Amino acid sequence: MKADPVQAAESVREYLESQNRKSLLRFLTCGSVDDGKSTLIGRLLSDTRQIFEDQLSALERDSRKHGTTGDEVDFALLVDGLEAEREQGITIDVAYRFFSTAKRKFIVADTPGHEQYTRNMATGASTADLAIVLVDARQGVVAQTRRHSIIASLLGIRHVIVAINKIDLVGFDQQIFDRIASEYREFAKDLHFSSIMPIPISARYGDNVTTRSANSGWYSGPTLLDHLETVAVDEISIDAPFRFPVQYVNRPNLDFRGFAGTIASGSVLVGDEVVVAKSGKSARVKRIVAQGGDLDGAVSGQAITLVLDEEVEASRGNMLVAPTARPQVADQFAANIVWFDENGLKPGRSYILRTETDQVGATVTDLKYRININNFAHEAAKSLAMNEVGICNISAQAPIAFDTFAENRTTGAFILIDRMSNATVGAGMILHGLRRADNIHWQSLDIGKHERAQAKNQKPAVFWFTGLSGSGKSTIANLLEKKLHASGHHTYILDGDNVRHGLNRDLGFTDADRVENIRRVAEVARLMTDAGLVVLVSFISPFRAERQMARELMEKGEFIEVFVDTPFEECVKRDPKGLYARALSGSLKNFTGVDSPYEAPEDPEIHLETLGKSTEELVEILENWLHERDIEQEQYDDGGGI
Ligand code: ADX
Repeated sequence: MKADPVQAAESVREYLESQNRKSLLRFLTCGSVDDGKSTLIGRLLSDTRQIFEDQLSALERDSRKHGTTGDEVDFALLVDGLEAEREQGITIDVAYRFFSTAKRKFIVADTPGHEQYTRNMATGASTADLAIVLVDARQGVVAQTRRHSIIASLLGIRHVIVAINKIDLVGFDQQIFDRIASEYREFAKDLHFSSIMPIPISARYGDNVTTRSANSGWYSGPTLLDHLETVAVDEISIDAPFRFPVQYVNRPNLDFRGFAGTIASGSVLVGDEVVVAKSGKSARVKRIVAQGGDLDGAVSGQAITLVLDEEVEASRGNMLVAPTARPQVADQFAANIVWFDENGLKPGRSYILRTETDQVGATVTDLKYRININNFAHEAAKSLAMNEVGICNISAQAPIAFDTFAENRTTGAFILIDRMSNATVGAGMILHGLRRADNIHWQSLDIGKHERAQAKNQKPAVFWFTGLSGSGKSTIANLLEKKLHASGHHTYILDGDNVRHGLNRDLGFTDADRVENIRRVAEVARLMTDAGLVVLVSFISPFRAERQMARELMEKGEFIEVFVDTPFEECVKRDPKGLYARALSGSLKNFTGVDSPYEAPEDPEIHLETLGKSTEELVEILENWLHERDIEQEQYDDGGGI
């Protein structure tokens, strides 16, 4: 029989439209590795795909034959929804699977389960509506069940299916099911889930997965698929305030300037007033440009370019928002952090904080407590280890625009990235802006850095000496200061041993304390450059991340990293304070180079190899370097170099 091409095209369109109208449920599965996650996903896919694939392959055949839609009929519509996740750039480890039934479309975040599970789960959960928590009927609720449920709750998931799996292996025993279900409910009562649905299943044999099992006559609830198809999920509300994180400014030619991005929540119409979150400047929407052409209006989830009636500044990272319901703009806030990395969270260390489109350096200023995943106890902690969860205060180098995570899962979330490894090390959910940040403003002063430096007739600079204990940092800095002083410079030496007697007397030599040690001294060095001084900092400063942070605090060209490179064996030989002897014998712990790391600079401004050179010679290298820099700089400006 020959199909009518027009009719076939029509039915393809109808099918696609019906698919589009169907609601979408995003979910993920979690539980211990052996609880049957992959079996369940496989079972769901194979028991439901049938319908879908049959329909689809028929459609494909028709559409290909009649050339109306080419080969692209099938998954395009389902893949649509993924753009948002890709944008977040954190989906690396998670595979998404799609399936569809007559009632709903589904996206399952398939998160591989190893020790990195928390990371993968947090990644997959960032947009999920529901979590299937798998429990082995023989084991009941275990630590993993609790951990994953807490993370799911933190990440904003409000619906849970407790899939009590392998029920066949306990003889379909109702008592066991009831006991596990009530144990879970008891545990989860503080997790703010809006629905918890325990279902006895056998992923292996299919009991109660997509079809009701005759083996569990006592169970009257829905099958797993029934529940997935009918659970009411809170759609990302289009009634929520308009939030449009700017991805980039689209300026193909002088006649067109638009802001491109994906609407995170709410809706917008041509003619609406919008406000730039960080500056408060407002304008009206002139055009809404989308892929197929101009639109009159657009809603959350749509990728668009907004053209405004006035030129306002809003670069990547800013947000266009509803004028009557604005997000917070602050550089300090409290957040929930889930830590993923093998190297623990270090308060004081500068990480890169990335929101939907913004990026800024940020430190955890105060780790308030860690949450014990077994009993929700708040425990004192100095760090978060892999898979741990804690509440902390965060201070960003510049203000970001955000909502609380409770209000908006997109604009209230962020990830933390390690500056050196570029790895995503944590996920954060913003609880609230810090009041103290609201109440502290910059005081403007009439005399500035420039005036102070001019009075001293010099350019401020920071010589940052880094190297092992006993490498010669302080000796070299001392002689350099003498020479600078003799030639009329205004200088100051910040020396590790000395500063640790006063400002930093509360700090020891753990990694965390060293991070804080360097953060403080870097801030002091910055104040000193603001005072117009030439500062010589002589600290082991063993971590690249903190030296980088110090560099970024200073103006361009102001930070001069001097690597005092003396081999470990030589430092041991010199051992001016007898500390190496003690460290090597084990009576002094956490000693740099012995049982605490030293990360050598990769690209210092000055690399001093000290072996075989006198202090005089080494200082001469520094002076020559300065001299050359000044000649170079004089070609640009006439200001007196140092
Ligand atoms: S840093 O690592 O935090 O930058 P800092 O430069 O302030 O160290 O202090 C290093 C000095 O402290 C060393 O020169 C040494 O005299 C002394 N010290 C005492 N214990 C240690 C230790 N465990 N590791 C390194 N230095 C130590």
